[in-house]
Amino acid sequence: MSKVVPTQAFDGQKPGTSGLRKKVKVFQQTHYAENFIQSIFDSLDGFAGKTLVLGGDGRYYNPEVIQTAIRMAAANGFGRVLVGRGGLLSTPAASNVIRKYQAFGGIILSASHNQGGPEGDFGIKYNTGNGGPAPERITDAIFAHSQKITTYRITDTPDVDLNTLGKTSVESMTVEVIDPVADYAELMQQLFDFDAIRAMFQSGFRMRFDAMHAITGPYAHAILEGLLGAPAGTVVNGTPLPDFGGHHPDPNLVHAKELYDLMMSPDAPDFGAASDGDGDRNLIIGRNIFVTPSDSLALLAANAHLAKGYAKGLAGIARSMPTSAAADRVAERLGIKCFETPTGWKFFGNLLDANMATICGEESAGTGSNHVREKDGLWAVLLWLNILAVRGESMEAIVKAHWASYGRNYYTRHDYEEVDADGAKRLIQSLRDRFATLPGTHGIVAADDFSYLDPVDGSLTDSQGIRLMFGEGTRIVFRLSGTGTAGATLRVYIERYEAEPSRHGLDPQVALADLITLARNIASIQAHTGRVSPDVIT
Ligand code: G1P
Ligand code: ZN
Repeated sequence: MSKVVPTQAFDGQKPGTSGLRKKVKVFQQTHYAENFIQSIFDSLDGFAGKTLVLGGDGRYYNPEVIQTAIRMAAANGFGRVLVGRGGLLSTPAASNVIRKYQAFGGIILSASHNQGGPEGDFGIKYNTGNGGPAPERITDAIFAHSQKITTYRITDTPDVDLNTLGKTSVESMTVEVIDPVADYAELMQQLFDFDAIRAMFQSGFRMRFDAMHAITGPYAHAILEGLLGAPAGTVVNGTPLPDFGGHHPDPNLVHAKELYDLMMSPDAPDFGAASDGDGDRNLIIGRNIFVTPSDSLALLAANAHLAKGYAKGLAGIARSMPTSAAADRVAERLGIKCFETPTGWKFFGNLLDANMATICGEESAGTGSNHVREKDGLWAVLLWLNILAVRGESMEAIVKAHWASYGRNYYTRHDYEEVDADGAKRLIQSLRDRFATLPGTHGIVAADDFSYLDPVDGSLTDSQGIRLMFGEGTRIVFRLSGTGTAGATLRVYIERYEAEPSRHGLDPQVALADLITLARNIASIQAHTGRVSPDVIT
């Protein structure tokens, strides 16, 4: 039986960079998840009888909320739910399922790279029928509904068995449990030359993929070790755990340090990679060389034509504003446009739908293409493998040749996590207050707050990060994170372009040392946040 449950609005159900993310404890409050899911449904029109895709990254609380979402979808009038076995779907796989089965939309349960477990984070995100994160028009409506909600609709049916593939029903709605990997693996085979990659593994190529106890484990086992014949043991930490084994499933040099150390060691394999909690991020490391996500985007774009899915070339490239301009140089040489968007994958959706961009990327370890409407960790790994198989060179040789040809964009990001929110806001405001006076000092030629006019729908998004521009590809960017769940996180992005190959061999922290110090001083980071040094350097 479907019933209407009285409820009261909760403060702060405002979706951030990527859906609503809060501590598990917050989500566990009575009615909290229900309110947000009802607010999603109340912001949508015309889904009666249509299909909703459901899945999550398997983190703590995923099983409970999946069942809630099924009961609420039935009570709200969806005709069918497609749900990954065990309630699992990686974010890019969910995007693919939405597109492939022409679903009305999908709900993804994930807090991405944030920590899991009962003390960790949880999240709910809505994706539209194009497979991409809901645009701001919808997330704003969700928030507005969440502020005035008084009731939600739910059925009181028992839990659905999600471990058996096939169809059941909840009231008049069909629930179809699907293999979370199959559709995704099929898509990857359409894009990449699996025979060439298999042959490379057969001739002794060695790789390590660290799934970080998160969602990509089953995908990587099936694709890398199964379809591509990589030796067993290539995938490590391949079983998803509700608390990710107590680790942060964030594929960066801090949380994937073991992989990094292996790749820098004398018996490193040829290629190392990792993905995050929900499978949309990637970390790429060659033997003896770390490839920054910004460089990886540029290299993938420059070599994409070597994979069959991109053999016809790219329509354009898009990168988020804080991402380095390395991709811009590739676009320039290819004679295509490079779009600069605000942080967050949702801003790429329109460009991809309009076929203005084919490949997109963010400095935060996100790369993807028009094959889905999310960034895609394993996709990036497979495109790299395809390029390595065709070129037959080492990663290090390929990266260094790229720098020699295009120049190197030295790049680093310094994060100050969980700082006092008011102090962080004051820091940003104090930079804003100096836009008129900063140019002309310290070599700064321009200072502004990034805003984006979407070339497809004409929407304007402002206040997206403070930029201090020094000319010739040098800049410092300050931004506050939109995905944190405690206090504020200040991100400082620092970049300098170096054309001269004889100066390409420096550690970025050394090459950028003067700018790092300048950033600290100009923004008075210590005075505003009380922090002397960043928590994470990537
Ligand atoms: C971070 C990244 C951003 C990414 C987002 C979701 O957002 O910086 O590039 O799209 O996570 O994965 P932020 O915390 O900076 O708002
Ligand atoms: Zn993620």
